[in-house]
Amino acid sequence: MARTALVTGGARRVGRAISLGLAEAGFDVLVNHHASPGDAQDVVDRIEALGQRAVAVQGDVSTSDGVERVAAVLRERFGRLDLLVNNASLFQPRRLLEVEEEEWDRVMAVNLKGPFLMLKATADLLDQAEGTVVNLVDLSATQPWTEYAHHAVSKAGLLHLTRVMARAMAPRVRVNAIAPGSVLPPDDAEDAYRERSRRAAALGTLGTPEDVVRTVLFLHRSPFITGEVVVVDGGRSLGGR
Ligand SMILES: NC(=O)c1ccc[n+]([C@@H]2O[C@H](COP(=O)([O-])OP(=O)(O)OC[C@H]3O[C@@H](n4cnc5c(N)ncnc54)[C@H](OP(=O)(O)O)[C@@H]3O)[C@@H](O)[C@H]2O)c1
Repeated sequence: MARTALVTGGARRVGRAISLGLAEAGFDVLVNHHASPGDAQDVVDRIEALGQRAVAVQGDVSTSDGVERVAAVLRERFGRLDLLVNNASLFQPRRLLEVEEEEWDRVMAVNLKGPFLMLKATADLLDQAEGTVVNLVDLSATQPWTEYAHHAVSKAGLLHLTRVMARAMAPRVRVNAIAPGSVLPPDDAEDAYRERSRRAAALGTLGTPEDVVRTVLFLHRSPFITGEVVVVDGGRSLGGR
């Protein structure tokens, strides 16, 4: 039986690249989306064209109902889980004192509670398969990004949740995180944003979603690594000049 992956927010952007990259590596893929049914179906069609099984499932990862629906389809259609990728995320610029209570709760619910709920709903399947989990954080998990205050706090929480998950799920399930630098600027990003991101990286270039895909596969295939974060940022976090 083929290995199976679940990618949250797997229909668009980086999540789409992860879904397709895992299919190319031989995984059947459950493509979770929140509000992108057309994109999710397109990813499913492409995965099926590669000869792997795929299913698109709508579900809000910030709610138990949404997560349970995704897990139910996973059980019914695939009956196993080798790799959970917690990719779904909200990325909203907001200075700390300008964050509204509702926005704070929403960002925490999607970015931090979502991966917890998703693990809870699939832990038995991951355990059976001796599977792995990869959580997508970013450099704000360790740096105080004041322009993205609630986002940064949520990713710091997810980084620590990665370590708690790794301890709690050992020895059968390994849990790691990836902290990409700029691999795919927001769709509405201006040229100045891209240029700043390019210059901030020691390697002088933006990354690509494929840099993340390679790291997901590396972590999945590395049996002695758990509770770690791999920074994939072209040297941006080195600082200096
Ligand atoms: N892009 C980068 O350069 C970069 C850099 C560092 C870290 N990362 C991390 O890598 C991951 C992917 O990045 P990205 O830029 O592709 O992210 P993104 O475009 O901000 O969002 C990814 C997906 O999250 C989904 N999502 C949002 N709320 C959801 C919910 N309540 N339930 C289920 N899905 C939900 C959306 O799905 P729908 O479209 O279906 O609504 C969206 O397509 C994120 O965790 C991000 O923090 C990205």
